[in-house]
Amino acid sequence: MGRRSKKEIEEITDLPGIGPQTAEKLRAAGYTTIESIATASPAEIAMISGISEAQAAKFIAAARAALDLGEVETAYEFLQRRKQVRKITTGCKALDDMLDGGIETGTITEVYGPYGSGKTQLCHQLSVTVQLPEERGGLGKGAFYIDTEHTFRPERIVQIAKAFELDPMEALKNILYARAFNTDHQVLITDKAEEYIKSRNIGLLIVDSLISHFRGEYVGRETLAERQQRLNKYIHKLLRMASVYNIGVLVTNQVLANPGIYYGDPLSPAGGHVLGHGVTCRLYIRRTKGDRRVIKLVKSPYLPESSIEVAITESGIAAVE
Ligand SMILES: Nc1ncnc2c1ncn2[C@@H]1O[C@H](COP(=O)(O)OP(=O)(O)O)[C@@H](O)[C@H]1O
Ligand SMILES: [Mg+2]
Repeated sequence: MGRRSKKEIEEITDLPGIGPQTAEKLRAAGYTTIESIATASPAEIAMISGISEAQAAKFIAAARAALDLGEVETAYEFLQRRKQVRKITTGCKALDDMLDGGIETGTITEVYGPYGSGKTQLCHQLSVTVQLPEERGGLGKGAFYIDTEHTFRPERIVQIAKAFELDPMEALKNILYARAFNTDHQVLITDKAEEYIKSRNIGLLIVDSLISHFRGEYVGRETLAERQQRLNKYIHKLLRMASVYNIGVLVTNQVLANPGIYYGDPLSPAGGHVLGHGVTCRLYIRRTKGDRRVIKLVKSPYLPESSIEVAITESGIAAVE
């Protein structure tokens, strides 16, 4: 997080012992940056790239040294690091107020809700608002949008960008878009995204939706454990990226109907405990009437549970009086 690599070491080939061939193996396995190596485990690198564990351990140590990535720090240093956490405005005052400024960098924010509730709308909106200059609550950075349901619409970006008085064509150019066709592809694209975070100044990674391919590919009780294991690994990948690059990560999730529940809300987020533990901030969005939606802050480490009413308009998600 904000730890700059020492000037002389910028590419993975700058690390001692990594020649062109080894670099190729590492890159093919998704380890394209010093950060990605520094935060991996030797067993993981060995398994994915075919490099020996002993060699991988040496590279990891070198990468950590290059980044000053100490394992232990004082609480004071921790606080300094926390101060680098930024908020990305949602562009909706009521929602920003509920989130104490917007979506946090360094962690994962999840929005779950039924079909048509507005999850994808929120993703479109944030991929625009992250581009706003700092004085308007953005990061002045781009977004990387991973679309698993084929619901991204550039035309919608144009509408929202206009509403925020950004040049729509520039706004489109600042969004990198990739469609994921299955879970393997989704993981691959996420690894690929890591290359762009630095080179294209990305401030927000969006995965819409996190879960659909996992649910589609692992059907039936007997595959559940395996699915949860892979999902867990994937969420940790996202967490690591959020933390190492100090970017926002916004993911959407579907809901499950719990037929046994007669009191309270019969809908709960998919993904179980694996997802519940992995995300830091959790929002629940549901339709009330017409264009109206209720967004509830369900989980936050330091904010109270609360909810607001908003409307989905041509200009995006907006407050209602
Ligand atoms: N340009 C627009 N103006 C107003 N409402 C819109 C616009 N585009 C989409 N919507 C509304 O957004 C809703 C779909 O939200 P979406 O984010 O796709 O749902 P989810 O991703 O949760 O399934 C629909 O109710 C649709 O009417
Ligand atoms: Mg959607």
